Amino acid sequence: MADQETVLVDIAPPVATLTINRPDKLNALNASVRREFVESLGLLQATDAVRVVIVTGAGDKAFVAGADIKEFEDRAAVEQFRVMKGFEIFEATDAFPKPTIAAINGFCLGGGCELAMACDIRIASDKARLGQPEVNLGILPGGGGTQRLPRLVGLGNAFKLLYTGDLIPAAEALRMGLVDEVVPHEAVRERVQELASKIAQKSPVALQLIKEAVRASVRAPLDEGIRLETTLFGLAFSSEDKEEGIKAFLEKRQPDFTGR
Ligand code: COA
Repeated sequence: MADQETVLVDIAPPVATLTINRPDKLNALNASVRREFVESLGLLQATDAVRVVIVTGAGDKAFVAGADIKEFEDRAAVEQFRVMKGFEIFEATDAFPKPTIAAINGFCLGGGCELAMACDIRIASDKARLGQPEVNLGILPGGGGTQRLPRLVGLGNAFKLLYTGDLIPAAEALRMGLVDEVVPHEAVRERVQELASKIAQKSPVALQLIKEAVRASVRAPLDEGIRLETTLFGLAFSSEDKEEGIKAFLEKRQPDFTGR
């Protein structure tokens, strides 16, 4: 991963940070970012010592200001359809089996907002501005935005953002549930690191099963989701982490989870 340029991978177990690194283009997602990001997720998935992943943007101005608009120029429909494979960055992030936190350090637009929504938790700088401005380009979100946005903020708020293309301040995004916390700009990294470290102390087995169950909640009908939860709950009882967690509680000490 050392030779990657557009996505920086910092592994500091138990937390890893993926930084999208095109600050002079406000970290716009081009083919290179999409490829390197998905490859990095593969590495982090395979690295047991990594228990939580932070996603952020380089520089002080942007998380990600959207898909790279330059790549859309002169591109025909058939060609775009073909490269949609490159859009797997969103699905790969959503399906990544460890907790993910988006540290939204500035503009979070279009594909950037879609990437943040594909993460599990979103913490935003009070200077961040968010939106889905695709409508201004005569297109629509192509990274799951029309699906994930209404699930997070409700139909009315989603339509408002999608129809107007307006950029909203972080405080407004918090009000509608698009982000989960807003902190002073200079404190974003520290706050996200603190949250990641806290989550990373928990049982990796439990975290993975929780993620799978919660992901089902927005996909499956309720009965199916409850059935899955019951199965996963049973599965958790076969783990060493469950033994350790219960034992530690009864012995009045902190658990030491191994992820087995
Ligand atoms: N794709 C490609 N390049 C982008 C980009 C994007 N989505 N967003 C920003 N950039 C580039 C700009 O072209 C500029 O490059 P340049 O210096 O070579 O001209 C650089 O990043 C800095 O952006 P700039 O527009 O000068 O910054 P600003 O502070 O004036 O405006 C924004 C910031 C976010 C309001 C503005 O860049 C913008 O509207 N970007 C597009 C957002 C968008 O529509 N995203 C959805 C895409 S589907």
